[in-house]
Amino acid sequence: MSDMTSFIRELPKAELHLHIEGTLEPELRFKLAARNSIALPYSTLEEMRAGYLFHDLPSFLAVYYDAMSVLKTSQDFYDLAWAYLERAHAENVRYAEIFFDPQAHTSRGVAFHTVLSGLRNAVLDGRRLLGIRAQLIMCILRDHSAAYGMATLLESLAYRDLIIGIGLDSDEAGNPPAKFAEVFRRAREEGYRLTMHCDVDQAGSTDHIRQCLDVIGVERIDHGVNVLDDASLVAAAAARGIGFTVCPVSNRYVTGELKAHELRRMLQRGLKVTVNSDDPAYFDAYVTDNLVAAAAAAGLTEPDLVQLERNAFEVSWLGPGAKDALLGELDRFEAAALSEEA
Ligand code: HPA
Ligand code: ZN
Repeated sequence: MSDMTSFIRELPKAELHLHIEGTLEPELRFKLAARNSIALPYSTLEEMRAGYLFHDLPSFLAVYYDAMSVLKTSQDFYDLAWAYLERAHAENVRYAEIFFDPQAHTSRGVAFHTVLSGLRNAVLDGRRLLGIRAQLIMCILRDHSAAYGMATLLESLAYRDLIIGIGLDSDEAGNPPAKFAEVFRRAREEGYRLTMHCDVDQAGSTDHIRQCLDVIGVERIDHGVNVLDDASLVAAAAARGIGFTVCPVSNRYVTGELKAHELRRMLQRGLKVTVNSDDPAYFDAYVTDNLVAAAAAAGLTEPDLVQLERNAFEVSWLGPGAKDALLGELDRFEAAALSEEA
């Protein structure tokens, strides 16, 4: 392992853009299919992986939603989240904010409570048994109606204390942030923190980023690399300390490019940019791999990598005590790494 790779593995990290359904590894998909007596159109892991063909966001989403049919019981959701937390813990992710897509489950007859109880129990066990912290962010599917989004938000209120914030994901084409202005206004009133996906190189990307800032009032934008296309947006996002959760390997799968140089420019412009894995079971890269790939492609230095993680802890939705504790851990790691070099 190179020095840079081991530095990145050991660096205390926060992951803020991670879809729990996107961590469904082929092995677990087979196991859950067998447990739930669901027939799959594949007989080997290789065949399953070979079926994971995508070249843009809609073709990825088709594979991603199809695979979820094996998730049925609370134990299934527990196993999914537990596998991610173990994996993240092994690469020194100290804190994760985990997206989940309840409508992808309620729409096929799995109860909201089933999804949430499994995820919640895994989060509790992650803290108790591994020392990793995590919180849950509920995403609304933007290619469904605003009314369905509102109904899902209202359903979530029974679990308000178990969910830190609300996001917006799925197919962005024709589904701008403003479509969900009412849903997000209500979410804010209920005390949820707000983020939204602005996927890379979409039709209307800069308009969508502007709507996130001016109409919705998000604290973070998921992906959001196209902020660089408009200097006034960069200035506004920097002034407001908006967090950007960039996912380099995901970008490569859906646009053909890592956007690592864009990541470096975002850092240089003082944006609170972070690096994340998005859907690691499909893009074959967890957060360390994403940082290693971006560092190699854009020549990021160790101080740049520390800054990316400082940004991540700062724009996270941890309470002040936990946030300061993890920032302190990062400071101590940096001081020890620098003194080794001296
Ligand atoms: N963009 C939109 N929807 C998604 C994504 C993403 O990166 N990952 C899972 N659902
Ligand atoms: Zn995403």
